[in-house]
Order: sequence, then structure tokens, then C-alpha cells
Amino acid sequence: MNKRVLITGASKGFGYEFVKLFAKDGYDMVLVARSEDMLREIKNEYKDLDIKIIAKDLTEKDAANDFYKRVKEMGISVDILVNNAGFGKMGSFEDIDLSVHSNMIDLNIKALTELTYLFLKDMKKKNFGKILNVSSLAGMIPGPLMAVYYASKAYVLSFSEALSEELADTNITVTALCPGAAKTNFGKVADVEDKKMFSNAMNAERVAKVGYKALMKNKRIVVPVATNKIASFLVKILPRKWSAKIAKSVAQEA
Ligand SMILES: NC(=O)c1ccc[n+]([C@@H]2O[C@H](COP(=O)([O-])OP(=O)(O)OC[C@H]3O[C@@H](n4cnc5c(N)ncnc54)[C@H](OP(=O)(O)O)[C@@H]3O)[C@@H](O)[C@H]2O)c1
Repeated sequence: MNKRVLITGASKGFGYEFVKLFAKDGYDMVLVARSEDMLREIKNEYKDLDIKIIAKDLTEKDAANDFYKRVKEMGISVDILVNNAGFGKMGSFEDIDLSVHSNMIDLNIKALTELTYLFLKDMKKKNFGKILNVSSLAGMIPGPLMAVYYASKAYVLSFSEALSEELADTNITVTALCPGAAKTNFGKVADVEDKKMFSNAMNAERVAKVGYKALMKNKRIVVPVATNKIASFLVKILPRKWSAKIAKSVAQEA
């Protein structure tokens, strides 16, 4: 029997690139996103694999529990969980609708935490599992003008590192992927695609490959691309106030 991966946000961007990588290695899958048509197209691309698709808005009330129930009803077991779905929004904190902030927290933090909790219990029973949480370089610093997004990714990074340590004596690993700007639909949704900070954006395929390799090697944190590795080092030695000022001026650059 093939091992099975569950990928959130599988319809496009990094999520779709993860699908391609797992498919190459013969994984069966459970794919979730809101766009059912796109998920169906992906399923049709890989007829030799058992791919279940569940169209679901993970910001809905009780989304993770409902989703988990549906997976259980399918009688399948998940070996690898990729918590990838997420979004950001550029703008000053008070100018962005409160509902957007709340949805961001519901998706980037709440759904990720709840899905991890639910599927981890099953992994514990088997004493096997791998979890890949998509954080961001943004998770390493305060992010004026994308304050809630950066904070949500800081949560993902801290949570992943802590959980990885809690599980150190088990056969379950947790990896946090921390990419910088990459060419996906993220830029459009976040209103940053025309910003200077996205002018040298990486391609999504490269990011996913780095994340996939790190997951398979049980790495705790991975930052794709050398320039971003340097940035992730610099933020460790710079006062956080300076990092916040730099992040603000980068966000303000047209
Ligand atoms: N691209 C970057 O520059 C960058 C950098 C660092 C980190 N990240 C992180 O990488 C992850 C993937 O983003 P991406 O860049 O690949 O962006 P993307 O192309 O916009 O993909 C986001 C994925 O999440 C799904 N999604 C969005 N809202 C959802 C919801 N409410 N319920 C269920 N699924 C939802 C989308 O599918 P539907 O629209 O079909 O629901 C899509 O499959 C995110 O966590 C993002 O924060 C991105």
C-alpha cells in the first residue's frame, strides 16, 4: 500500500508543486482547497494514484473537525501532513477589514493547529508521521504593514519548533519551511505582487523542492535560497526594532 500525504492549499502555488513531488514518489493523497474544479483537474492528472479531494474553506467554523471526520469516513490513514494553505494582506493594521485579519488567523494559525492536533493523534498510534508546516521568512521578524501575516507565520515557526522538540523521542518529525517571496497567487491575494519586494521572487517549484527534501531528511527548519539564508541569519543578530524598521521600508517600496 502506498503511503498517503494530506496537502492543504493544494490547488495552486506551493501546494500544487508539492502534489507533483509527492506524485513522482508514488504517494496517495488527500487534497484540500476551496476550488473544487482545480482539485478535480489535479486528480485527473494522476489516474494511477489514489487521490481524494475535499473542497473546503478552512476558515469556516469547525472546519478542521469536519474535514478530519470526512477523512476518517473515507477509511484512510494519513502518513504525512502538509499544512500549506495560507494568505497575507498588505496594508496598515487598521485599514484592513477585521474580517480579513480574522480569516487569516483562522487559516494560517487555527486550521493549521487543529489539523496538526487531529492527525498527530493518529500518527502517534502508528508511531510514524511527518508534518510540514509552511511558515515564511516573514515569521522571523515583525512585519509592519503586514502585521498579522508576519505574526501568524511567527506562530507557525515557533509552534513547529516546539512540537518538533516535544516529539523528539518519537518517529514523528515536524519541519518548518520558511520561504521568502515566491511567484504564486500569494502576491495577488496579498496585494504585493507589484511591490519591489516581489521583483526577485523565487519560483514555486524550487521552494517546494527544498521543502520536500528537508521534510524527507527530518530537518526542523529550512530556508530556501542563499540570499534568504543570509537574511534569516541577519535577523538573529539585528535588534528587533531595526528589523521592524527595515521590514517597513521594504514594504513601502513601490
Ligand atoms: N508566495 C510567497 O511569496 C510565500 C512566501 C512565504 C510563505 N508563503 C506561504 O506559502 C503558503 C502557500 O501559499 P502560496 O504562495 O502557494 O499561495 P497561493 O498560490 O495563493 O496558494 C494558496 C493555497 O491555499 C488555498 N487556500 C486559500 N485560502 C483557503 C481557505 N480559506 N481554505 C482552504 N484553502 C485555502 C488556495 O486554494 P483555493 O483558493 O482554491 O482555496 C491555494 O491552494 C501560504 O501559507 C503562504 O503564506 C508564501
